[in-house]
Amino acid sequence: MAKQKKSNITDITTFKNKIFYTKTDTETRELGKSFAKILKPKDIVFFNGNLGAGKTTFIQGILSFFGIKKFVRSASFMLVSEFETKVCPVYHLDLYRLDENNTLDLGIDEYLFGDGISLVEWCDRLKHYNIKQRWEINIDYTDNGRKIKIERFL
Ligand SMILES: Nc1ncnc2c1ncn2[C@@H]1O[C@H](COP(=O)(O)OP(=O)(O)O)[C@@H](O)[C@H]1O
Ligand SMILES: [Mg+2]
Repeated sequence: MAKQKKSNITDITTFKNKIFYTKTDTETRELGKSFAKILKPKDIVFFNGNLGAGKTTFIQGILSFFGIKKFVRSASFMLVSEFETKVCPVYHLDLYRLDENNTLDLGIDEYLFGDGISLVEWCDRLKHYNIKQRWEINIDYTDNGRKIKIERFL
């Protein structure tokens, strides 16, 4: 069997319950791109962090891994952007403007519980779904740059 160099393996343990610091938006995008390797269809990723923390920047990195170069907007004008990729659909749900009571009307369920990967900003709007199995990414400002905590819940 061929030997594998450990440093080249990216798997769930690379990111599960880990903290990363990024000094620039490029570093955050690179982290997102690297994290994307371990995503699978039906995965849900929740993002927490204040406006301007870097949630959309991280998501841009994830999308670039899937070959999507199209600009991903940050301004929260759109609730859901849908991207077709070779693997599965990838949904960017930016729920900043969403009222908790409107999630059903908007068919948010079809994204979350469909076959795609859902990347959710302002996931507190989805509390009532009580989603257990998920990745959760928290981004904070610190003196060392952005602190990006990645957790896995099952
Ligand atoms: N280390 C960093 N990671 C991510 N974004 C950063 C970083 N340093 C500065 N920025 C800037 O902060 C802003 C983050 O914006 P954005 O990703 O849209 O945030 P959010 O989606 O959380 O509101 C961008 O203008 C980006 O250039
Ligand atoms: Mg955003």
